[in-house]
Amino acid sequence: MKNNLYFIILFFTVHMVSATDSDAVSYSKTFPVPPLIQKSELNLVMQRGTLSLPMGQSRTMGFNGDYLGPTIRVSKDDFVKINIENKLMENSTVHWHGLHVPAEYDGGPHQVIRPGEIWKPEFVINQSAATLWYHPHMMGKTAEHVYKGLAGMFLIEDDYSKSLKIPQSYGINDFPVILQDRRLDRKGVFEYRPRLPDIMHGYTGNIMLANGAYKSSLELGQGTYRFRLLNGSNSSLFRISFSDSRPFTVIASDGGFLPESVKTDSLVMSPGERFEILIDFTMNEKTALLTEIAGGDVHEAFNIIVNSSKNEYFRHPESFDYKPVLLKSDAVIRTFRMENRGMGNFFINGKQMSLKRIDFTLKKNSSELWTIENAGMGMMMNIPHSFHVHDVQFSVVSVNGRDPGPLYSGPKDTVLVMPGERIEIALNFKDYTGIYMYHCHFLEHEDEGMMGQFEVLE
Ligand code: C2O
Ligand code: CU
Ligand code: CU
Repeated sequence: MKNNLYFIILFFTVHMVSATDSDAVSYSKTFPVPPLIQKSELNLVMQRGTLSLPMGQSRTMGFNGDYLGPTIRVSKDDFVKINIENKLMENSTVHWHGLHVPAEYDGGPHQVIRPGEIWKPEFVINQSAATLWYHPHMMGKTAEHVYKGLAGMFLIEDDYSKSLKIPQSYGINDFPVILQDRRLDRKGVFEYRPRLPDIMHGYTGNIMLANGAYKSSLELGQGTYRFRLLNGSNSSLFRISFSDSRPFTVIASDGGFLPESVKTDSLVMSPGERFEILIDFTMNEKTALLTEIAGGDVHEAFNIIVNSSKNEYFRHPESFDYKPVLLKSDAVIRTFRMENRGMGNFFINGKQMSLKRIDFTLKKNSSELWTIENAGMGMMMNIPHSFHVHDVQFSVVSVNGRDPGPLYSGPKDTVLVMPGERIEIALNFKDYTGIYMYHCHFLEHEDEGMMGQFEVLE
């Protein structure tokens, strides 16, 4: 049932007793909600900016602003046109993480946007309701660009999601929550300067930001709320909980609703993964969303103050429509061995990413069963990885030969692979052809070669 929980707990208990960071800074800032864009043609500008935190001012990058980007919300079957202007003064790309689109519009490392250029992807939204996100994918630069702030939410709704009796008023009872740790130096600013240990273990931080703010407060009336959580960190494994250990209901994973909702009081999230949760606030009270960084500290990501005003309550649904990926009998079987050979060298099946090499091809309308192995061995190599696939959402079939458990029973595009683990995933490729990526979503690993590309052929 609770598959890799034992392993995960080992990763978390090392520094578990460290306190939350000091309360020296008061919660004066209001929890920011990224602006919502709901248009079939929209503009994004990649630009440089600054982010002011109580401790200092950092130089950042954002979409249409200083840090992060607007939330894009579209509906299934919409035809969407996006104009993305690059004002960064350096090459970048914009990838739609989790979106099922033709390869030429996927925004991977082949779709470079040069400084001053405008890239104009357009596509039909061809998948069910989900909480996705967008971020750069420039060869060797993904980690830096995301770290500096280039990331935003991409929400899909459909007739089914709109018909559900769950919170869906953006910024009122339905909130995006982008969780990122950042490493402040003695001047109180963050920069991206990884050294070898950071590449191995990830560029983890000493403070937490939620939607780009440090220690913000969200004031709410009494009622039911929906948080769309994204681990937007570069390489940190998070354990999410509330300061009063209150239970909540998990209703969706990366690619949409779970077959059955899950009641829990904590969630482990690897970089790039999303979960949607429902939570009730029933009286005047205070709590905080805690983020524990594996191997690091527990942080209050933001504070929640419940006042006496009344908002709407919703019953938490117990199950949702979800059809797992069913493989055809002629499914192609492949194995992906993720390996860290030390000194910042990361491999998949003994190879490091090259834009000039297609690692394998497959046929449109084919089924595939993939086994992902984290081949880490020995103390130094004991590093978690994750596996993310572009183009399609997959089903997790097994974790170490066992049932993946309820949290991994819904649509996924990114899965955590702990040291020594073997995970099987089922994928059905359809609709589009072209070159797509698969990679570790620990961004330092990705940039150091833990990525490959496959081509879907007609
Ligand atoms: Cu979130 Cu290939 O990326
Ligand atoms: Cu992706
Ligand atoms: Cu990795």
